[in-house]
Amino acid sequence: MKMISFCNKKGGVGKTTLCKNVAYKLADDNKKVLLIDLDTQASLSYLLQYENIDMSKSLHKIIASDCEIPINKVIQPTKYKNIDIIVGGETLRKTLSIMREIYDNHNWYLVGLQVYKKNVDIFDSYDYVLIDYPPTTDDLSLNWLIFSDLIIVPTNCDSTSFKGILDLNNNLELIITELKRNKPILKIVFNNISDNDNRTKIMKWLNKYDFSKLLSNVEIKTSEVFTTSNNDFISIWENPYYWRQKQAYKELIKEIK
Ligand SMILES: Nc1ncnc2c1ncn2[C@@H]1O[C@H](COP(=O)(O)OP(=O)(O)OP(=O)(O)O)[C@@H](O)[C@H]1O
Ligand SMILES: [Mg+2]
Repeated sequence: MKMISFCNKKGGVGKTTLCKNVAYKLADDNKKVLLIDLDTQASLSYLLQYENIDMSKSLHKIIASDCEIPINKVIQPTKYKNIDIIVGGETLRKTLSIMREIYDNHNWYLVGLQVYKKNVDIFDSYDYVLIDYPPTTDDLSLNWLIFSDLIIVPTNCDSTSFKGILDLNNNLELIITELKRNKPILKIVFNNISDNDNRTKIMKWLNKYDFSKLLSNVEIKTSEVFTTSNNDFISIWENPYYWRQKQAYKELIKEIK
């Protein structure tokens, strides 16, 4: 099992869109995928809409039970072959306060790992666990980021997305230093980029903080297919056109597989 997180402490940069379309492609390639939606907005859960969705089945249930409830109780199938999901949503709002009640400070950032360790067979029955994050690096998010194999950080060319990368990196470094863990690999992916975007400034910042080495070779250009497929509740792979966009995703998947 490989755990890939899609995170940037900045909203609207394409975390959910990337997570969704990567999942569809992996599933189409016959890989078993578990999606975890950590966002109270639950956009990913909504986009994977299927009948009789039970929005109470988020990670909150597991964490609030101090991992007494096994994770398969909140895993739901989607209408897509090979893709299961643990939904996000409003229930996650209560998770941090429950964590404070149940776990002492020492174990505060190890709750995600505990969930994993108690359910390792279920996690390992998937080829990929893909996690979609809210535009924050709250303590619930950090719990899952610290033991991800890879963190995909979508960004566009504006300065606030760069600040999102910097904050994510700083928060992560603080925690992994405290826990004496290895830092997960970060991969920055330019998304929603048009040819006339000026990237001089962001490249200067990326170089200054030594982040340019984390840049993916792949860029996902701005295209209507991402919005229309979201609106139609389909993936870009179900659209017969837009081969350039699909090619970019294929290249990205090669990098992260
Ligand atoms: N390459 C792209 N070209 C055009 N539109 C895109 C592209 N990528 C994402 N979008 C659109 O940008 C919007 C934001 O994308 P998305 O919801 O994936 O971002 P996010 O980072 O998950 O946002 P949030 O922080 O709110 O969770 C959506 O309307 C999506 O369709
Ligand atoms: Mg999102």
